[in-house]
Amino acid sequence: MSPEYSDQTKKKVEEVISHYPKKEAALLPVLHLTQREFGKISKEEEALVADFLNIKPIQVREAVTFYSMIHQKEMGKYHIQVCRNLSCTLMGAGTLIDYLKDKLNIEPGETTPDHKFSLSTVECLGACEQAPCMMVNFDYYGHLDKKKIDQILDDLE
Ligand code: FES
Repeated sequence: MSPEYSDQTKKKVEEVISHYPKKEAALLPVLHLTQREFGKISKEEEALVADFLNIKPIQVREAVTFYSMIHQKEMGKYHIQVCRNLSCTLMGAGTLIDYLKDKLNIEPGETTPDHKFSLSTVECLGACEQAPCMMVNFDYYGHLDKKKIDQILDDLE
């Protein structure tokens, strides 16, 4: 069964769309609202968004698969995104990714069984001067080492 927006989200989606000359230009904010409601953008949500914006589902899919902040499956309560781009890699991101994999006992792209943590590796987070760095939900953490990661995760417990 295809999902439906709550009345509240539907109202917000319609309001966002009204700010754009063409409905399809509202794709990213509508995806954001949709993900906030359903926790993910799977094929069902893609169809819903496409329907609302009068575009083809493939156009929605293109955006969903391009932007790392859009998730095709539900994430854990804390989504850890570790940068694996050049500066961070040179500063030891690979070791930290392995450390997180061992600590959480999951691979990138997976979520812990208690749905608390999801781990992803991503391209540049735009904070290269703080390499190696990661995001947990919308918060940035830089100049990371194993001790700092332990502290960040402990604070989330
Ligand atoms: S390379 Fe990691 S934030 Fe830019």
